[in-house]
Amino acid sequence: MRWDPDVYNRYPDERGRPFVELLTRVRVDSAAAVVDLGCGPGNLTAMLASRWPDAEVIGVDSSAEMVAAAGEYASDRVRFFVGDIGDWQPDGPVDVVVANAALHWVPGHVDMLATFASWLRPGGALAFQVPDNFSEPSHTLLQELRESPRWRDRLAAGADRSAGVERPARYLEALVAAGLDPDVWQTDYLHVLPGEDAVLNWVRGTALRPVLTILDADEQAEFVSSYAEALRAGYPKQEFGTVFPFRRTFAVGHLRSTDPVE
Ligand SMILES: C[S@@+](CC[C@H](N)C(=O)[O-])C[C@H]1O[C@@H](n2cnc3c(N)ncnc32)[C@H](O)[C@@H]1O
Repeated sequence: MRWDPDVYNRYPDERGRPFVELLTRVRVDSAAAVVDLGCGPGNLTAMLASRWPDAEVIGVDSSAEMVAAAGEYASDRVRFFVGDIGDWQPDGPVDVVVANAALHWVPGHVDMLATFASWLRPGGALAFQVPDNFSEPSHTLLQELRESPRWRDRLAAGADRSAGVERPARYLEALVAAGLDPDVWQTDYLHVLPGEDAVLNWVRGTALRPVLTILDADEQAEFVSSYAEALRAGYPKQEFGTVFPFRRTFAVGHLRSTDPVE
């Protein structure tokens, strides 16, 4: 699937905020090695380097376009690689593993959490955040259109983005099973997006990518026109902007540095 770093990062504040809020719950004071799985365009990976100034930071992403864009943030101690979350391995122990808005693209990711946890040094943390908005109009309208008579032959299969996430309790159980102390929560954001067709511009960077990857240019224009019309009705633009509700699930697991005192 093709990603477009510029389109994805059109709303850097709204996309970056959950990352910042995720990191507030990571209690790792100093780190030598930090990994960002599904690092995307690298701007948030760079924040990891600021938070842990002694750490070597590695960003991994399966999109060559994203890794190329992330090159802007590369340095002696911040490096980016093309790789798949499903089989990438660090060279040695890691203090912090982060995956922001990435694991929902990886089928079976809940079963990979134990592997990520196994990379951690004692005292280290695994922290990830996934969207939980698949029943919101941005997704249901997209699915309805994909499955409509006009598009179902081309898009009913292969462009599905709904398979992604587990319930928060399932993530909590998986962290415990992996030997981590769990901290799992959800936040409902009410983003207020500026401009025309704001929600369309948001999903152009994410949920619409599989569709755009399959269709040619003329088909894309036709599909996007119909989808934009539906989104305008689903998310009416108001004087102050377009309200875009967005629920996200956050999960942090710490590996204890010592056994608890009885
Ligand atoms: C929504 S973006 C999030 C990027 C970044 N973490 C952020 O928060 O800005 C999802 C990223 O996950 C990457 N991704 C999806 N599936 C992946 C996989 N199996 N292995 C590695 N990266 C993957 C995509 O290429 C994309 O850059």
